[in-house]
Amino acid sequence: MIGRGQAAGALEVVCWDVREYGLGSYGAIDDYPYGGGAGMLLRPEPLAAAIEAAVAADPRPARTLLLCPQGEVFSQTKARELADCERLVLVCGRYEGLDERVREALIDEEISVGDYVLTGGELAAMVVIEATARLQPGVLGDLESTSEESHSEPLLEYPQYTRPAVWRGHEVPEVLLAGHHERVRLWRRQEQLRRTLERRPDLAAHWRPSEEDRRLLARIV
Ligand SMILES: C[S@@+](CC[C@H](N)C(=O)[O-])C[C@H]1O[C@@H](n2cnc3c(N)ncnc32)[C@H](O)[C@@H]1O
Repeated sequence: MIGRGQAAGALEVVCWDVREYGLGSYGAIDDYPYGGGAGMLLRPEPLAAAIEAAVAADPRPARTLLLCPQGEVFSQTKARELADCERLVLVCGRYEGLDERVREALIDEEISVGDYVLTGGELAAMVVIEATARLQPGVLGDLESTSEESHSEPLLEYPQYTRPAVWRGHEVPEVLLAGHHERVRLWRRQEQLRRTLERRPDLAAHWRPSEEDRRLLARIV
């Protein structure tokens, strides 16, 4: 999907290798933490040089994001916000992390992909790239497909079915087979509300129901 988006000119993904900015004949990029403790840290000079080179590589303004388990937890709302940025520089940590001064000097924002710890920021960066890229016009075949899926509002998507109409004795809900568009729309909305309340009541707390939603809710609670 990202390859297709790049081929269509909808986005460009460029990798920067911190090792190219390494120090000395071994190209060192890490060192021991002052004060002791386990593991190594990314040294500030090579990391800063790589970030500054990435920022300077294009005249368009860049927002610098550090992938970090201490950051704001990534969400569809954040993906939409980032999709509006002209350029993002995603900084991936390694080892035990990075020298705090780089964070203070060069990072605009920290993003976490969840409350767990990965070995490096690369997979987290891929999550941010994929969720953000698919919101760019020209990346998905049909932009409509992002407007009804889970989290496009603070709601989960309704259940979906394809052929056959009966599988292992389980039938597709009748309303979907009858071809009545308005009934299908109302059923889907109702199931979307039901599913969100059952599975993610924390999301439902952020959602503002319409009059129609209230009527549908009265049927299910
Ligand atoms: C082993 S982790 C360092 C964790 C750090 N010592 C701490 O406790 O916050 C190494 C790198 O992986 C990346 N990383 C780990 N977990 C992440 C998460 N949940 N979200 C985003 N990036 C993460 C960050 O770039 C981090 O610098």
